[in-house]
Amino acid sequence: MQHIAESNSPLPPQFAAQAEHQGKDIALSGIRKTYGPAVALPELSLDVPRGQFCTLLGASGSGKTTLLKIIAGFEAPDAGSVRIGGGDVTHTPIALRNIGMVFQNYALFPHMTVFDNVAFALRMRRLPRDEIRRRVGEVLELVSMDTLLGRLPRELSGGQQQRVALARALVFTPDVLLMDEPLGALDKNLRQAIQLQLKKLHHELGLTIVFVTHDQEEAMNLSERIVIMDHGRIVQAGAPEALYRTPESPFVAGFLGECNFVDRAGCMLGVRPENVRIGTQLTSSDLRHEGRIVASTFCALHWKIFIEAPGRTVVAYVPAGTGAAERTPGQSVVWGFSATDAMEFAAA
Ligand SMILES: Nc1ncnc2c1ncn2[C@@H]1O[C@H](COP(=O)(O)OP(=O)(O)OP(=O)(O)O)[C@@H](O)[C@H]1O
Ligand SMILES: [Mg+2]
Repeated sequence: MQHIAESNSPLPPQFAAQAEHQGKDIALSGIRKTYGPAVALPELSLDVPRGQFCTLLGASGSGKTTLLKIIAGFEAPDAGSVRIGGGDVTHTPIALRNIGMVFQNYALFPHMTVFDNVAFALRMRRLPRDEIRRRVGEVLELVSMDTLLGRLPRELSGGQQQRVALARALVFTPDVLLMDEPLGALDKNLRQAIQLQLKKLHHELGLTIVFVTHDQEEAMNLSERIVIMDHGRIVQAGAPEALYRTPESPFVAGFLGECNFVDRAGCMLGVRPENVRIGTQLTSSDLRHEGRIVASTFCALHWKIFIEAPGRTVVAYVPAGTGAAERTPGQSVVWGFSATDAMEFAAA
């Protein structure tokens, strides 16, 4: 957690002055993209308000990277328009869109120092030497990398390289920051540290961020809004809690968090594992079913119990204090839930 503690310095003047002006809204309308016979995006529209942290979440091949590439200008859509800050940029070259990008394989220039990697974009823009020095210093301070200016990428840890990549994307104060699975290669602690740092930067700079992940926990940690994609379409979008509590379809319920599906009187119910009770934990009004415990896993805050029931495996999170007698694999068990905790879906 060292990275976080280090980054408590006040916002450098360059960013403080621009914070309230930063971030432009993105408006995608009727975007279609095909690759030969493959339809990556049939017809997609999405508005991201300025300053929003918006995450695209979806299975592999659902079109997340394609959409980012279209916003950035690496790919042109077959149909539809891209507007940034009100202006139509559908046919604007990448370099003129003022977009910062961070990708999973962050590909820093291997032969350049940390300083030179970050300065590169400013040199391309022919900024004066003094200003480059000042800006690079400020942005590296922002990501707590200002003490390692002279190192080469291979002399840095994965997380440090990732923060340099972030600095490189932020140094020219972009209107929009696009990130495609930027933390995929990092271990869990480092991921969390950088997630926190990213949240803080987002808050302080007021950036509009479109972030791609297929890690649902990461999506929940970071986003103000999650857009769930499937086969190039948006199936539902909303705040993390709203999506979790009121998914519109079994697909969304199963994609964001775990969910048990139970047929009951002709309709399909979705029940979150934390709402499943077993044995003596059941209340008198709970809907009850029979099953057999096949496995129990200790997860610190709860036990995760796998119950074999006719036609399905049910997952229950039961309190960490649940005694061995109630959770030992092999035994028969009664499991159930309150009807008020169940989410009802139209039968498929
Ligand atoms: N250059 C290309 N040529 C042909 N098909 C492509 C190309 N790029 C992407 N596709 C196809 O378009 C669809 C969407 O791909 P995309 O890379 O956007 O998915 P993704 O959601 O980013 O997946 P992942 O989570 O695996 O990165 C996939 O079916 C993919 O095979
Ligand atoms: Mg991708």
